[in-house]
Amino acid sequence: MQGCRLRGAEPMISTSRVLQKLPETMLVLYMLMMGVYSFAPQPEERTVAAGNCQFLGKHFKTDFKVEGEPVVLKCPQVQLWLWESVGPHINVTWRKNDSARTVPGEEGTRMWVQDGALWILPGLQEDSGTYICTVRNASYCDEMSTELRVFEKTEASLPFISYPQILTLSTSGSLVCPELSEFTRNKMEVKIQWYKDSVLLDQDNDKFLSVRGTPRLLIHNVSAEDAGYYSCAVVFAHAGTQYNVTRNIELRVNKKEEETIPVIISPHQTISASLGSRLTIPCKVFLGAGTHSTTMLWWMANTTSIEGAYRGGRVTEGQRQEYSENNENYIEVPLIFDPVIREDLNTDFKCVVRNTLSFQMLRTTVKEAASFSWEIALAPLSLVVLVLVGIWMHRWYKHRTGKTYGLTTLKTGP
Ligand SMILES: *[C@@H]1O[C@H](CO)[C@@H](O)[C@H](O)[C@H]1NC(C)=O
Ligand SMILES: *[C@@H]1O[C@H](CO)[C@@H](O)[C@H](O)[C@H]1NC(C)=O
Ligand SMILES: *[C@@H]1O[C@H](CO)[C@@H](O)[C@H](O)[C@H]1NC(C)=O
Ligand SMILES: *[C@@H]1O[C@H](CO)[C@@H](O)[C@H](O)[C@H]1NC(C)=O
Ligand SMILES: *[C@@H]1O[C@H](CO)[C@@H](O)[C@H](O)[C@H]1NC(C)=O
Ligand SMILES: *[C@@H]1O[C@H](CO)[C@@H](O)[C@H](O)[C@H]1NC(C)=O
Repeated sequence: MQGCRLRGAEPMISTSRVLQKLPETMLVLYMLMMGVYSFAPQPEERTVAAGNCQFLGKHFKTDFKVEGEPVVLKCPQVQLWLWESVGPHINVTWRKNDSARTVPGEEGTRMWVQDGALWILPGLQEDSGTYICTVRNASYCDEMSTELRVFEKTEASLPFISYPQILTLSTSGSLVCPELSEFTRNKMEVKIQWYKDSVLLDQDNDKFLSVRGTPRLLIHNVSAEDAGYYSCAVVFAHAGTQYNVTRNIELRVNKKEEETIPVIISPHQTISASLGSRLTIPCKVFLGAGTHSTTMLWWMANTTSIEGAYRGGRVTEGQRQEYSENNENYIEVPLIFDPVIREDLNTDFKCVVRNTLSFQMLRTTVKEAASFSWEIALAPLSLVVLVLVGIWMHRWYKHRTGKTYGLTTLKTGP
């Protein structure tokens, strides 16, 4: 409108003047247009509204559930602890990846969205698949996919649906019934039933104790026989129907990790090598029954780390190896020269081992190996020469004695 008035304000201008003023006029028009444009909706907002959404990828975790039980899929890109603050400002929608239709928001159906999470009640095997959660606000949109597998409730599916948990032999520890928060929220007292191999664990038991008001099962003095499958169950009521929510746990019992004083059994004090060749010096440490996990092993050159001393990578530490021979544990870290140069002959290499009980090191130096030399190569030849000289000398001597003899004969002659 203003652009029109601007042109209309100078009706008497000649064509040449208009042409002369054209760039100026264009600039004014352009600025006016930009002014109007800045009040218009932002372009990103329009693309978001059109369903253009950033895909953030697949969530690392797959949910394994049992048929007939409630399933709650959490939107992977929305942190649960942030829900209180972000919840009112975002719209969360769910859809199965092979369907364009989003899950309806209302209750009364088998699937609904509640506080950003997808509820399926009860879960069926055909619900297995990839689900996509879309999070959108006025100016932003992203989505992420997550995988659900619903199994038939059989023994055979236990390895897939069980959460692994680990306790240490001869100690006391507890199992935790996982992922119950959706079903125990707003409840004063949660009653969890624990089963071992489908047998209900007795409440009055000095071995197992279900800790009241927590999702924990305390196990006293864990033994090897305690390993195996456990399950925990809570009852969840929804719309007048009761559902069991069970979680399966596979308990593995680990031996207590022992610490021993490590012994460096190699390298030797000096290592022979020829300059210009590749050299590997293994540092081998004996741990006996001790654990690998708390033992650190590294090499040093003079007083610095290998990485710090050889930035170019001519000398490096090789891969750490942990192994057992006859039930005794070893660790090995090689030092690799590629190649050996003269400077290495003056450097102090140390293999260092450390755990909570001790700190030890072993020095080693590289010495130049006796390489190809003319003296050695010529040794057989010099022997031949020596023999020849010997023979010659013998002859010469004999000759001389012969002469002497003659002389003596002469002298002693009459
Ligand atoms: C969420 O979506 C509904 C319906 O599409 C809309 O009325 C509401 O304003 C949206 N809320 C936000 C925070 O975008
Ligand atoms: C849905 O996910 C499955 C498994 O990840 C995949 O094979 C399939 O191609 C996906 N379908 C669509 C429409 O994205
Ligand atoms: C929308 O979400 C983005 C990313 O979380 C955030 O930076 C932005 O401030 C939000 N906008 C509104 C209007 O809430
Ligand atoms: C733990 O159990 C083992 C046998 O499994 C037993 O020998 C040991 O005495 C028990 N220890 C305690 C503290 O009860
Ligand atoms: C829930 O578990 C209990 C005990 O195992 C069982 O008696 C009951 O039938 C189960 N209910 C459903 C709906 O599966
Ligand atoms: C280690 O010290 C010796 C003598 O001080 C020196 O000649 C050598 O270059 C040093 N090596 C390294 C890698 O710094």
